[in-house]
Amino acid sequence: MALAPYLSRYWDTPESWTLESYLAHDGYTGLRNALATDPDSVTSTVLDAGLRGRGGAGFPTGRKWSFIPQAKPGETPAPGSPEGKPKYLVVNADESEPGTCKDMPLMMATPHVLIEGVIIAAYAIRASHAFIYLRGEVVPVLRRLQVAVAEAYEAGYLGKNIQGSGFDLELVVHAGAGAYICGEETALLDSLEGRRGQPRLRPPFPAVAGLYACPTVVNNVESIASVPAILQNGTDWFRSMGSEKSPGFTLYSLSGHVARPGQYEAPLGITLRELLELAGGIREGHTLKFWTPGGSSTPLLTDAHLDMPLDYEGCAAEGTMLGTKALQIFDDTTCVVRAVLRWSEFYAHESCGKCTPCREGTYWLKQIMQRLEDGTASEDDIERLLDISDNVFGKSFCALGDAAATPIMSSIRLFRDEYLAHIPDGCPFDHRRSTVFAD
Ligand code: NAI
Ligand code: SF4
Repeated sequence: MALAPYLSRYWDTPESWTLESYLAHDGYTGLRNALATDPDSVTSTVLDAGLRGRGGAGFPTGRKWSFIPQAKPGETPAPGSPEGKPKYLVVNADESEPGTCKDMPLMMATPHVLIEGVIIAAYAIRASHAFIYLRGEVVPVLRRLQVAVAEAYEAGYLGKNIQGSGFDLELVVHAGAGAYICGEETALLDSLEGRRGQPRLRPPFPAVAGLYACPTVVNNVESIASVPAILQNGTDWFRSMGSEKSPGFTLYSLSGHVARPGQYEAPLGITLRELLELAGGIREGHTLKFWTPGGSSTPLLTDAHLDMPLDYEGCAAEGTMLGTKALQIFDDTTCVVRAVLRWSEFYAHESCGKCTPCREGTYWLKQIMQRLEDGTASEDDIERLLDISDNVFGKSFCALGDAAATPIMSSIRLFRDEYLAHIPDGCPFDHRRSTVFAD
């Protein structure tokens, strides 16, 4: 059995985004297999395959589907009970984590694999309405999805009595307004309901009370796009790739100081050393200084972690997180203080303001990082950064607060000397040599 990638395989095919091209490459055969069986068997198949959420947290996709309250066969659920309420599927396409850029190319290249995954997932959880919540700024992706959804309706893959199965599904593509916090699943649901996007208290998780207080599955684009291949090829095929607890291939986004940045579809558990070989290594004449496994929300790592398996367990064993698999690579020309300052600016800007530790803390973290950059900081400011980070991390309402504190804490741990070198005269680096943070 070939261990070939399945998400990006047809990205280079001419007009890969059309229904015609998708059907020519066995598109919608996973759906056919799904509709030939009952919804619970589809959920069991995804559960047995061991697919884990590709949005960052790695929560098992099939288990999330199984949380949706369903009436027992032959029973009529009481009106207003969780079992009696409508079920919704929401695809989180609000990809915004710094460095994370896998879902957008996937939707641009093969929107039908996402639509097929949506139909299968909605069938499994017995939803008759699904939404794709897309980052609003990416207008080309919005247009591509809208055209693909129209094609799917026209061909009878969406709407009433899909492919003669008796299953009905309406799919809406919704463009958000461009707030990072709306990638947090409950803020996304608030935004989709027409309110200002701010996180809700969990529990209840969306599986119990989500969109319009009804049971809702929120899944990342790549998670849903992985489902058709599982229904097409089976669980053994999927489990033959990747590692035991993190099976399958996934998209790693390599950016920064690599010879060939881009999307690399590879088995979970691959190492950065192996990925760098595929990507032509660090740019010529330079060495790796630090990197992140999952955007800017995960602790910084150095060449000591080149052989760490890039799966959920491998990263956890080293005290970090796989996250979104956005591998940002920084070479010896990069000033770590300046890199972290950029992320601090981002988090301060994107903090939704709902809770005090994050709203106030991200503001002060940014101010002090800027003082270091400008040459107006004192040595006490380094301790102040750690103190504020300690008051933000684990004490904020949602994960954004933790994410803001994480790069600061880990960079001081690894590069305290470089922080000290910014006192009293500011940044000693020549930023013109760095292609990542050049002005
Ligand atoms: P989480 O671990 O709290 O939840 C993960 C998923 O499992 C959620 O859908 C949640 O509803 C579900 N879940 C967890 N426990 C449950 C339970 N007991 N019952 C029912 N459902 C349950 O993680 P969270 O806060 O949803 O996501 C954090 C991750 O998001 C981070 O690891 C980060 O890497 C990633 N992230 C991704 C971004 C992107 O652009 N793709 C942006 C920012 C963060
Ligand atoms: Fe909003 Fe930040 Fe609090 Fe999250 S941690 S609720 S983003 S203020």
